[in-house]
Amino acid sequence: MIHLGVNIDHVATVRQARLTDEPDPVEAAFLAMAGGAHGITIHLRGDRRHIQERDVRLLRETVRGSVNLEMALAEDIIDLALAIRPHAVCLVPENRAELTTEGGLDLSRDPAGLAAAIARLRAVGILVSLFINPNPEDVRQAVTLGADAVELHTGTWANALADVHAMTGTQAAVDTAMDRLQEAADTAAVAGIRLHAGHGLRYDNVGGVLHLPLLRELNIGHSIIARAMMVGMQQAVRDMVDLINPCH
Ligand code: PXP
Repeated sequence: MIHLGVNIDHVATVRQARLTDEPDPVEAAFLAMAGGAHGITIHLRGDRRHIQERDVRLLRETVRGSVNLEMALAEDIIDLALAIRPHAVCLVPENRAELTTEGGLDLSRDPAGLAAAIARLRAVGILVSLFINPNPEDVRQAVTLGADAVELHTGTWANALADVHAMTGTQAAVDTAMDRLQEAADTAAVAGIRLHAGHGLRYDNVGGVLHLPLLRELNIGHSIIARAMMVGMQQAVRDMVDLINPCH
């Protein structure tokens, strides 16, 4: 069974648009779990544009499933993770001007800092994954750094597919992006590191990544929250669970 982590950042985005107390990500998480999610994913950004520390604390206390905290390699957020102890942490790059996480981590930038952070988080029992661009070298480097899992960035593939549908791109670009995902997934399978994937996945494209070998977890946010606005959170999550695990 492939686990679905529902990223509820954009529930908090709506709340922060008015700096008020609704909608509450805690309530959204409860409904997502009722819809069949295996866990909740949140990104505590340095600029606190959506998820707040209060959300992380309350979600850790209330979610009956795993809480996966996405965060940059920043000392204050690592300390917070060590104190709150989510079940999993996904280390991601962060860039203040970006609309969303734009690429995988640059693993060559501060390997010692990464390895130290991974070791500190793992020492208290947190599962650590690294959000990486899909290539074999980065998978192997993630193993060397001591990570438990890699989350492959599916955004390039998803964007290439969207470009084909918009008639502005080519199938060759889609195939190249999928070859990269496949190669990275094969490398992860051989290396024995857990495989997660996410970014840009939607109801109309998620079927295209399910064949990746030993895929354990998908983290999906924007598309589920967008559908939840139309049909409700529980139904939106149920629809995605049915797509990724049709025989569950
Ligand atoms: N995985 C990671 C590491 C992310 O940073 C994000 C976006 O916050 C997602 C998955 C979910 O991406 P999307 O909102 O495009 O589904």
